[in-house]
Amino acid sequence: MGKTVDIAVVGSGYVGLVAAVCFAEMGHHVICVDNDPAKVKALQGGDSLIHEEHLPQLLNKYRNNQVEFTTDLGAATEKAAAIFIAVGTPQSETGDADLSYVEAVACEIARHLKTYKVIVEKSTVPVYTNEWIRRAIERNGVDRSLFDVCSNPEFLREGTAVSDFLHPDRIVVGADSEKAARLLQEIYAPLTSGDYYTREGIIPGEFTSDAPPPLLLTSTKSAEIIKHASNAFLALKISFINAVSSLCEATDANVQQVAQGMGLDTRIGPRFLRPGIGYGGSCFPKDVAAFRSVAEQMGVDFSLLTEVERINANQKKRFLAKVRAALWTLRGKKLAVLGLAFKGDTDDIRDSPAIEMVKMLIAEGCSITAYDPAAIERTRAVLPESDKLRYADGIYAAAEDADALLILTDWHEFGALDLEKLRTALRYSIIVDGRNMYDPAKVADAGITYYSVGRPVAH
Ligand code: UGA
Repeated sequence: MGKTVDIAVVGSGYVGLVAAVCFAEMGHHVICVDNDPAKVKALQGGDSLIHEEHLPQLLNKYRNNQVEFTTDLGAATEKAAAIFIAVGTPQSETGDADLSYVEAVACEIARHLKTYKVIVEKSTVPVYTNEWIRRAIERNGVDRSLFDVCSNPEFLREGTAVSDFLHPDRIVVGADSEKAARLLQEIYAPLTSGDYYTREGIIPGEFTSDAPPPLLLTSTKSAEIIKHASNAFLALKISFINAVSSLCEATDANVQQVAQGMGLDTRIGPRFLRPGIGYGGSCFPKDVAAFRSVAEQMGVDFSLLTEVERINANQKKRFLAKVRAALWTLRGKKLAVLGLAFKGDTDDIRDSPAIEMVKMLIAEGCSITAYDPAAIERTRAVLPESDKLRYADGIYAAAEDADALLILTDWHEFGALDLEKLRTALRYSIIVDGRNMYDPAKVADAGITYYSVGRPVAH
């Protein structure tokens, strides 16, 4: 067992909450701060507020003992050796990251900073943010010797957040002081030493090799750029395969075979080469825009990223055209939609391409009956039921009497449909699959015409 560190995590969103319970799982004491008293109360009571595997289990194990939830940032600052800032950095109107929450937290920390602390950026922030944080703290009268600002970006994905945190490919620590780097190395020692992976009953990883992850020590600015560059590169990979899927459609080739053939080259790798209806969520769209904007401000031409965004937007329009091609005209058509979340295994609908598709289809005059295993309540709050939109409580109820069924989110259960039952429920036997969940021949064998992305139509 390594050394126990007193940690404060500011912000209890996806990154903050997952980091808090995972630091506890690694043996540390954590104070998780949020300025929303209702949220703090819910977390104290064991309600994790988001749909995320393993989170309820860890929250119940550590809440009110190794993880304390509070609104009191001052007290947390005084107690902690390291303070992780994990508040939101939403997109502003110009495409930049809005850093006002980060600034407010930095100023509040400054007011309570009496002994040496390491302040760590966990939120995704543009390069140079560490310097702004430092200046904000100094401006509030704190001596430079009393703190360091580091960057420790997080690479977890929603839906697999807890296991990604505990089984990372790498840990990146950007620190310009040895003292601060040492503390962060101590915090991650349970993972980098491999100790955590030898324990009984650990949270399993998605691709567990159980080889300890490397900790890469960089300058703070490099670490800030690593996070933005990684997300932008993954988005680029997705847009690349989506562009290839257009070419496959135009030539009757099969994008799945193309992606497999490319991905077997270890320099390319097989992951994030799944074509679909475009990337979404709270990270990629915002981070690509912010990274592009940072480059512009520094006088660097990164118009490649503009192209990534253009292809992503176009992929949705191409899917709409595919639905139209399947049904001839759209006005008055009744469609079943499977999936509202931005991807499977999450109830998050922020920047969900599925919801954008639903809006586009309604604007074309379709009426929709939608089902999602976890995201209906959140969707209902932004898209209330109307004569054009109904929510069903199951897959086959959504499909009843529909002119076609559309798959918009890659939930596992949407890849295991009872095709026979579906064929009987649908008015016309048509599936338009935006996530390539099926072997086309299998769907065609069930008597259903199957449209997917970058593969020939099967009937
Ligand atoms: C992403 C990154 O993958 C994480 O490493 C990062 O930590 C996180 O952003 C963040 O910055 O906080 P996340 O947005 O949770 O994670 O989800 P992803 O699994 O990356 O999916 C993003 C979008 O890309 C989804 O809409 C998904 O459906 C789409 N996608 C993903 C594809 O269309 N094709 C793929 O092959 C992979």
